[in-house]
Amino acid sequence: MEQGRAMLLKVEQVEKSYQSGAARVAVLRGIDLALAAGETVALTGESGSGKSTCLHLCAGLDRADAGRIAVAGQDLSGASDATLARLRRDTVGLVFQQFNLIPSLTVAANLAFQARLSGRHDADWAARLADRLGLSALLDRYPEQLSGGQQQRVAIGRTLAARPALILADEPTGNLDEATGDSVLDLMLELVAETGAGLLMVTHSTRLAARLNRQVHLRGGRLA
Ligand SMILES: Nc1ncnc2c1ncn2[C@@H]1O[C@H](COP(=O)(O)OP(=O)(O)OP(=O)(O)O)[C@@H](O)[C@H]1O
Ligand SMILES: [Mg+2]
Repeated sequence: MEQGRAMLLKVEQVEKSYQSGAARVAVLRGIDLALAAGETVALTGESGSGKSTCLHLCAGLDRADAGRIAVAGQDLSGASDATLARLRRDTVGLVFQQFNLIPSLTVAANLAFQARLSGRHDADWAARLADRLGLSALLDRYPEQLSGGQQQRVAIGRTLAARPALILADEPTGNLDEATGDSVLDLMLELVAETGAGLLMVTHSTRLAARLNRQVHLRGGRLA
């Protein structure tokens, strides 16, 4: 393996544009980012600057137009759809800006969903997470019976339950009050410290961003 063995995420000169009517709009114009195991990075930038696009590319949900992305040593550029699906199942945990809970499953089943897929379901760990996220009394409910903040906490729990090596979180505390947001971030940082995972987190909160190891800012399609 190449020298950056501990490098969990490596983004090099990645470009991405979208078709908008007749025009092509460049969203990412060559971004570079490296994230080591155990490292936490805040991704900031104004609305529409491409933060979610960047996360989706790193999760293998979409493909870059140019450049290279490697996750845990796996190059995503030439990877097959099956390989990308396996990467999302086994290595990457994405907390979406929209929570993407499964409406027909209870909170408990939503929480366990990702972990079951990856073969890492652990009932004790799931219960501990539910407790820490304040969801223990809601386990039998369905997503439509939850507030936005409660749904967001289920989405975070679902990702953390699977203990992913790389956590990509898109404004994971955007719907939470300050105290709840703080304790959710505590939980994510504890997991990173415990498991040596890496965290790339989009946030608009400078206060939360300051609690991570490093901050990168997306502007004009470039990262600074
Ligand atoms: N599938 C798509 N097709 C066309 N344009 C898209 C698509 N996805 C995103 N865009 C455009 O790309 C730009 C970046 O979008 P993105 O969702 O990455 O921004 P963001 O930084 O996450 O913003 P926000 O803070 O509002 O979530 C926006 O101008 C958006 O309209
Ligand atoms: Mg976004």
